[in-house]
Amino acid sequence: MNTSILEIKDLEIYFPQNKFTAVKGISFEMKAGEIVALVGESGSGKSLTASAIIGLAPHTADLKGQITYKGRNLYPDYPRELRGKEISLIPQDTLSSLNPVFKVGDQVYEALDIWDKDLSKIEKKAKVLETFSMTGISDPERCYRAYPHEISGGMRQRAMIAMAIINEPEVLIADEATTALDVTVQALIIKLLKDLKKTILFITHDLGVVAEIADRVIVMRHGEIVENRDVFSLFSKPDSEYTKKLLAEMPKL
Ligand SMILES: Nc1ncnc2c1ncn2[C@@H]1O[C@H](COP(=O)(O)OP(=O)(O)O)[C@@H](O)[C@H]1O
Ligand SMILES: [Mg+2]
Repeated sequence: MNTSILEIKDLEIYFPQNKFTAVKGISFEMKAGEIVALVGESGSGKSLTASAIIGLAPHTADLKGQITYKGRNLYPDYPRELRGKEISLIPQDTLSSLNPVFKVGDQVYEALDIWDKDLSKIEKKAKVLETFSMTGISDPERCYRAYPHEISGGMRQRAMIAMAIINEPEVLIADEATTALDVTVQALIIKLLKDLKKTILFITHDLGVVAEIADRVIVMRHGEIVENRDVFSLFSKPDSEYTKKLLAEMPKL
């Protein structure tokens, strides 16, 4: 639990056409097996940070700094063989992340098939269905055959979660992965993610969820990190005024 698996050093994300620095030289690391919550108001730079870690930052952005995975530098030439296999993302916008012209099941199958050379076709399909079940999809066969617009937003979100975990990645980034889900499904997903025992960057603006899932919390504001602490000390003794305000706004459990 003590070796650092992912290190982000002085990460800056700048948009030259707007002369806007969205992420202002942030640094943090993640230990193997650690669940880190990344919180902060909308626009604070959470999703951009995630996109840099997965190597999919907008083309219009200039990136500076260093990201290393298991000691290996991910920039400037992001190793494609890591994405979706060792480092995986559950994107915030699940509708635009699924291709509208392909069946949901086939898209998840494809994500598995790219990397898996051992299982047979039948076994791969079974694995997709099983992973759908794990995410609480009640009729996996139906979901498999459906096109993205034929299933609900919550169902699409779960299909994206299935796609992100199907290759059993070492590092999983969940960007508002439980936001659109009702509380029962949310609880199931949180348990599922915890049971994976992988390194997870869990992006959310829901501090209630943070208390349930995270070992450590990083709070971002205006592209900077204002807190980076273990959950207990953050909740009991927040450093920044901003975090105090966030905690005060949190619904009482
Ligand atoms: N492709 C882009 N071009 C220009 N600005 C962007 C782009 N993507 C994000 N931004 C800006 O960067 C800031 C951080 O965005 P984001 O990381 O998505 O925030 P968060 O996920 O914390 O809500 C926001 O002000 C957003 O408008
Ligand atoms: Mg976001």
